[in-house]
Amino acid sequence: MYTTELKDKNQAPQSAAVVEDPARLEAFEARVAADDFIEPKDWMPEAYRKTLVRQISQHAHSEIVGMLPEGNWITRAPNLRRKAILLAKVQDEGGHGLYLYAAAETLGTSREEMIDALHSGRAKYSTIFNYPTLTWADIGAIGWLVDGAAIMNQVPLQRTSYGPYARAMVRICKEESFHQRQGYEIMTALAAGTDAQKRMAQDALNRWWWPSIMMFGPPDENSPNTAQSIRWRIKRETNDELRQKFIDVTVPQAEAIGLTVPDPDLTWNEARGSYDYGAIDWDEFYAVVRGEGPVAKERMQARVKAWEEGAWVREAAAAHAAKHQAREAAE
Ligand SMILES: [Fe+2]
Ligand SMILES: [Fe+2]
Repeated sequence: MYTTELKDKNQAPQSAAVVEDPARLEAFEARVAADDFIEPKDWMPEAYRKTLVRQISQHAHSEIVGMLPEGNWITRAPNLRRKAILLAKVQDEGGHGLYLYAAAETLGTSREEMIDALHSGRAKYSTIFNYPTLTWADIGAIGWLVDGAAIMNQVPLQRTSYGPYARAMVRICKEESFHQRQGYEIMTALAAGTDAQKRMAQDALNRWWWPSIMMFGPPDENSPNTAQSIRWRIKRETNDELRQKFIDVTVPQAEAIGLTVPDPDLTWNEARGSYDYGAIDWDEFYAVVRGEGPVAKERMQARVKAWEEGAWVREAAAAHAAKHQAREAAE
């Protein structure tokens, strides 16, 4: 899954930024412009560090919260093959969250701080996970559209300027393409099935299309951090560029399996070589960002419950590690 790098509550305004040493800043900018990777021990401007911590931790949270809507369907998968695939996919998302928390930790923020920010509602995660999964076709639609949108966003991040983030993204992208394929395969099977199955597939596309388009974040004119992030190569393409690419590859996929994208204004623009699309309901997007998504409260309750019930595992692992260290020290 992925993140749109949203403004967190209590985020310091840009004007509060520290004044950096101009010579160091210039050397840093030259390295970034030359496509050098920045590594954890290298000097970096405070604003770069903060933007990365926010983006990588939001990305990590999105992976972990993203396990919930699909995890709900593991026990209800229609057969053993589908269950095995879904289990593997949800485990992959857990792994993505862990690599990303580890990458964010190299910037000097602790795992506990990040988890606490998530559970207390200070940190954001992708708005898409605050929508419910009502039918099995939703599992298909999520893989196809949500993981499909994630790939669009994450492929350029393999060349993001921060080394640990870029390297985590290489493996994540390989796994995301499997996620997209399994989702599209579910949709293909349903769309070629009985009338009831076709209706289920179309209904899932109807509900997930617009939230998927919104996953790319606010339009460029309302995305104040984009220019700086592109200059520092934290981001390599803008929200609107990525959204357009996603629409252009996904519409023919829907047509190929006989489903209709729920946008009456969608038309091929010969001159641009791209699809024109209808107006996005940004009021809905910002409402979900503010935590008013249909199942936002349930998602956070499920996360906090899992964290609390898993306390004994963390304590047992820490006790085991301490015992080992003590034994090694004694030897
Ligand atoms: Fe993922
Ligand atoms: Fe995924």
